[in-house]
Amino acid sequence: MENLTQAIARLKREKNAVVLGHYYQRGEIQDMADFVGDSLALAQWAAKTEAKIIVMCGVHFMGETAKILCPDKKVLVPDLKAGCSLADSCPADRFEQFIREHPGHTVISYVNTTAAVKALTDVVVTSTNARQIVESFPKDEKIIFGPDRNLGRYINAVTGRHMLVWDGACHVHERFSAEQLAQLKRLHPDAVTLAHPECPEAVLAQADVIGSTAALLKQAVAHPERTYIVVTEAGILHEMRKRCPTTTFIPAPPVGAACGACNECQDMRLNTLEKLYDCLRTESPEVQVDPAIAERAVRPIRRMLEISARLGL
Ligand code: 13P
Repeated sequence: MENLTQAIARLKREKNAVVLGHYYQRGEIQDMADFVGDSLALAQWAAKTEAKIIVMCGVHFMGETAKILCPDKKVLVPDLKAGCSLADSCPADRFEQFIREHPGHTVISYVNTTAAVKALTDVVVTSTNARQIVESFPKDEKIIFGPDRNLGRYINAVTGRHMLVWDGACHVHERFSAEQLAQLKRLHPDAVTLAHPECPEAVLAQADVIGSTAALLKQAVAHPERTYIVVTEAGILHEMRKRCPTTTFIPAPPVGAACGACNECQDMRLNTLEKLYDCLRTESPEVQVDPAIAERAVRPIRRMLEISARLGL
């Protein structure tokens, strides 16, 4: 009698399906994925796969990005209700109004946006390539950056730019507290603090390394002898502990929680092994994107992939 993981592996083979998983997914989902990565890597992988079906184990915008890149493929997300607070913080109609109020600006949008927002965008970025893509524009380029105010402020600070930044945020990263992080750092004075740029400014000010999930993982793998305080969604700890089994990783807790508590994205947690199995079996739920929106949204995504390839990212 086959168990759940064997059944998932069989269905993947039988249906020529590839399972892509974000680092914030449950550990057991990451273990079943053919490829685990950050938002950029997932888009790159979706763009090049020859599989007939893409199962995107992540949140809705990641499935949308894959569908926009591969309109002829079936793109499934195990639980379509897996949304993103950051994408929700930037409704397309309000963003369009903002763009109209600031004519003459290049629009750079974080990948954590709906297809409709991407359709209003000149180039999409992720946390891996945002800095380099912004720097690929002339110093005096007028830029609108949305929707993450923390990432936008951080990119402005490190590049010396004055981008107009949309006032959105990721609820999970906003839950990290500067006071609690300072306390944790006092308890572990030798630990290196790794933080995602979606964290608030006062948290980033205490970080030793600021980067995407892939960049933070790379840092740990390069120096496994160190101890790390990890200030991002706790799902990344799964791959960190797998790749660095003897390293101590200390998750920063969400505000008000005790030391040792993890800050988890409940949307990312909606995908489970059972739902992954069901979605492969029934080939649903399928991600759909309005073809007229997809036609406009694909350009800034492809532009991001082209610039990233040129930069070797
Ligand atoms: P990266 O995947 O670019 O690290 O960003 C994390 C994130 O915001 C996922 O929603």
